[in-house]
Amino acid sequence: MGLKNNPAFTALEQHHKTLGNFQLRDALQDQTRCQSLTIHFDQAVFDFSKHLVTPDTMKLLQGLASARDVAGWRTKMFSGDKINNTEDRAVLHTALRAAADADIRVDGQNVVPGIYQTRQRMADFANQIRGDKKITDVVSIGIGGSDLGPRFVAEALGNFHDGPAVHFVSNVDGHAISSTLAKLKPQSTLVLIASKTFTTEETMLNAGVARDWLEKGVGASNVGQHLAALSSAVDKATAFGVPQDRIFGFADWVGGRYSLWSAIGLPIMMAVGPQNFDKLLEGARAMDDHFRTAPSEKNVPILMGLLGVWYRNVYQYPTQALLPYDQRLARLAKFIQQMDMESNGKSVDRHGQPLDTAAGPVIFGEPGTDSQHSFMQLVHQGEVVPVDFIAVKKPDHKLTENHRSLLSNCFAQSRALAIGQTLAEAGGDASRVFSGNRPSTTILLPQLDAYYLGALLAAYEHKVFVQGIIWDMNSFDQPGVELGKKLAKAIAPALDTGDVKGLDYSTAQLIKAVR
Ligand code: F6P
Repeated sequence: MGLKNNPAFTALEQHHKTLGNFQLRDALQDQTRCQSLTIHFDQAVFDFSKHLVTPDTMKLLQGLASARDVAGWRTKMFSGDKINNTEDRAVLHTALRAAADADIRVDGQNVVPGIYQTRQRMADFANQIRGDKKITDVVSIGIGGSDLGPRFVAEALGNFHDGPAVHFVSNVDGHAISSTLAKLKPQSTLVLIASKTFTTEETMLNAGVARDWLEKGVGASNVGQHLAALSSAVDKATAFGVPQDRIFGFADWVGGRYSLWSAIGLPIMMAVGPQNFDKLLEGARAMDDHFRTAPSEKNVPILMGLLGVWYRNVYQYPTQALLPYDQRLARLAKFIQQMDMESNGKSVDRHGQPLDTAAGPVIFGEPGTDSQHSFMQLVHQGEVVPVDFIAVKKPDHKLTENHRSLLSNCFAQSRALAIGQTLAEAGGDASRVFSGNRPSTTILLPQLDAYYLGALLAAYEHKVFVQGIIWDMNSFDQPGVELGKKLAKAIAPALDTGDVKGLDYSTAQLIKAVR
């Protein structure tokens, strides 16, 4: 169902035309407005006051959410309906963080007991490895959703590491695996092969390299004791040589980019322990509960989603920046990029019909303050880029001066974007005029621990979900990834044989140059 002619959407477009004089510079003087656009989630603050919205905008956005039945689709997702229609699958990453007594059914079967059993096996295995100290290093080999989530979370929770060192290898570029293995000893290394399908070319090639390396170091008969698999394809993992009791599974209703909460999260557990992993799930569950039960106008993921649509489809801003003011969240944008762009970077609706509006934005980002010295010039004076600033109140270091500087820079950036600088304020220098009126959200976490990290990531997951519903698309498949894979398969033999028949001239000349 198209969005363009939906009355709730056209009402927003009409309303937009009346907002000509809206200035954040003035709106931010209104305390009641700022308070009403701020949501407290436990001790975290989600400040939406620096957005180009009036009370009427917010009402109309809520009207759009109702018109697209966000609440109805939310119920379908949480209750295990097969809303991933192209793959005929439920979408139940939320079940992975559900309470032990929850009853969530797929094809009539409660999936929660199985989730808890697998998690217990993961915890036992992690405790064994963490306890006996023979394994000093864990190498997780996976790509996309089987890498980005665990890698990001493990890095973000660096202050909580008390287990073996965890390394990640994703790229098929041999430099990645060779430089990682070069630092390690097979005798003290555990290799985790993280692949839902256990067929992904990059992962399988790297896993083969790691298995050969282990074999040379510990002998063929001992390789199994240095391997484990995180996969839905138990048969394939077994055939690869992973002992049965070292295969940790998950169901097909866990999408790759939503899988860090499943067995794919084992590297996180290895690094920070099962208790912290549980806290991560707890935080995500708290955000799930908030998303399910908070009134729509005070609902963090719904507001994040609606505001994103406001900018993407009404203002037609094509990008969105994520700027964590915390070095530990340096990989946040990389992780959310996949979650958002692989989910909503599409041009057809759930029935395969072309969309009549743009959908998912280009997501990019870097931590502040580094970003201030690279692309923020453009964000201040070039293209309008809606920004999410993410800051943490209490750091895990004692360098108070650094933290004061970090936070003041963060708040100054959002303020500068919103308020700008007039010609008079710039002393008549036109090059120093800033238009202002540039929107941003600020998310302030009390501290960066597993609980708040889980909640933050779940908020983004649900934001992506809300937007997919507004665009009437299936956010849970990824047909776009397939084309590149197919063409790579066709090109590989040409690199060996030089037979470039059927290829375009540009590709053919590149292949010739390599040969
Ligand atoms: O990038 C495409 C994709 O299918 C992702 O959805 C998935 O996370 C990734 O590849 C890896 O797939 P697998 O876990 O099956 O190796």
